[in-house]
Amino acid sequence: MIRICPSILNANFDDLPNEIARVATTADLIHLDVMDNIFVPNFTFDFDASAEIIESSKLPIDVHLMVEKADIAGPRYATTKAFSVTIHYEATENVAKTLTAIKETGTRAGLAIKPGTSLEVLKPYLNLIDMILVMTVEPGFGGQSFMREMMPKVELARNWLRSNSFTDIWLQVDGGISTETIALASAAGADTFVAGSAIYKSNEPAQMVTKLRQLAQDAFLS
Ligand code: DX5
Ligand code: ZN
Repeated sequence: MIRICPSILNANFDDLPNEIARVATTADLIHLDVMDNIFVPNFTFDFDASAEIIESSKLPIDVHLMVEKADIAGPRYATTKAFSVTIHYEATENVAKTLTAIKETGTRAGLAIKPGTSLEVLKPYLNLIDMILVMTVEPGFGGQSFMREMMPKVELARNWLRSNSFTDIWLQVDGGISTETIALASAAGADTFVAGSAIYKSNEPAQMVTKLRQLAQDAFLS
């Protein structure tokens, strides 16, 4: 099962309902990048603006929190209608408590690592998460180059999920995903793909989603 999640980071912020509608027939989830200009050097949406986008979206929203103090922000975002809330390991003090608080609201919980963070740090939390997010760029901006050197982390994560029967946990990659790179990530074992500029800079965003899905399907664990 392959999932394609367009990131609206590079869409037109003044017309998000329509930007989301452009991919509604082909995409699985909309990926919402929340940045606070502290955890990453960029700002996107505060809580109220995020909640409004989540509320009005035609597609379920996959929230990617790139904010400090995720112990507070994670559970707070989980009170919205978000489909999933992903926190960064690096921004969280009590990871188990925060994941549990997110899940208690009925929202799926994701745990993300930056490129410089070892996958090993996630191992103690596998029984508490619904999704692993392996960043394939430094978080903060769209349009950066895919870090191919992250693929061993994706392979290792897929091995853990398989050998421990955690087959329900999704394995997401985020950053630099395009028609050039998606097959690499899929062959390594990713099943959930965020793509921002590849989709929103294309003339036909909905068709680009379908194309990316096909490429991922053809390459999955090949
Ligand atoms: C980067 C964000 C990504 C970004 C991806 O910090 O987490 O979700 O929108 O954009 P592209 O696909 O352009 O790399
Ligand atoms: Zn993201």
